[in-house]
Amino acid sequence: MSYRHVSVMPNEVISMLNCRPGKIYVDGTLGGAGHAALILEKSKPDGRLIGIDQDEDAIRNAVRVLDHEKQRVHLFHDNYFHLKDILSQLTIDAVDGILLDLGLSLNQLENSGRGFSFMRDEPLDMRMNTQSEVTAEDIINRYEEKSLASLFWEKGEERWSRPIAKKIVAARKQDRIRTSKQLADIICEVVPFEKRPGKKRIHPATKVFMALRIQVNQELEVLEGFLETAVDLLNPGGRLCILSFHSLEDRIVKQAFRRLDKGCTCPSDFPHCVCGKEKTVNVLTRKVRKPSEVETIENPMSRSTKLRAVEKI
Ligand SMILES: C[S@@+](CC[C@H](N)C(=O)[O-])C[C@H]1O[C@@H](n2cnc3c(N)ncnc32)[C@H](O)[C@@H]1O
Repeated sequence: MSYRHVSVMPNEVISMLNCRPGKIYVDGTLGGAGHAALILEKSKPDGRLIGIDQDEDAIRNAVRVLDHEKQRVHLFHDNYFHLKDILSQLTIDAVDGILLDLGLSLNQLENSGRGFSFMRDEPLDMRMNTQSEVTAEDIINRYEEKSLASLFWEKGEERWSRPIAKKIVAARKQDRIRTSKQLADIICEVVPFEKRPGKKRIHPATKVFMALRIQVNQELEVLEGFLETAVDLLNPGGRLCILSFHSLEDRIVKQAFRRLDKGCTCPSDFPHCVCGKEKTVNVLTRKVRKPSEVETIENPMSRSTKLRAVEKI
């Protein structure tokens, strides 16, 4: 089966990465390898690409679609969090651009059979990396009611978090919750179909499914940890570009970029700096970039995308 994904903001991403021949780029979230293929095209004839994805399906697809450029490509089935180790395996100290296009591919949502979508009846798995240990089924059937409610609130911003958690705990006493449909049906019994004037109705299970997926894959922790050292892996003038899809991710990226751009974190009334932190980047997206209206109509999955980028000094 072919791998389904439509790359978001392709032109903006490629121009923001400033792809040039002879340079080295990292795509930390290969997905359907659409951005990766563009990076290779723009850095012809000798630019190199290091492609990473924690989902083996994405790597299998990338091997196939990037085959014509395989001399310039290094692929890793891994977490982008391990980029430093990956670079040292390749004896590369630093690269000229890093791209993260966070979240799920259309393929994971529609074809993986891992329960990412509340529209399907599939095992409640939600692991991007099927070698990792904890599944969504484990979380739903094991977490205490209070922990479930906190998860749905903190990682899904679900305001019905407590009644949903209560219902889940009651339901699992009757029977283990094993599938995405079982869970979606339980949520639908609690949450009314939201009607917001002027806005599209969202499915009642949207936020809980998002929170679960984020938790299973430790998405926020991985992103935060990576941003602490990512700039060290860039050459001067190198760029870090991040596409995010929800406010929690975007907040992490925005705050990290602001800290790196500012350097010193001492209180403003200190006579001189004692923290020793220095400005290491210039923010290239003072105003966050979003997809055009045309793109959001052609590819509705792109509608909440935000692109932010920095350049290492
Ligand atoms: C939105 S898709 C990327 C699409 C891609 N840019 C394209 O043009 O086709 C996100 C991909 O990132 C992968 N991913 C998410 N978090 C990851 C992580 N921490 N490390 C490695 N891959 C990750 C997912 O498995 C998924 O394949």
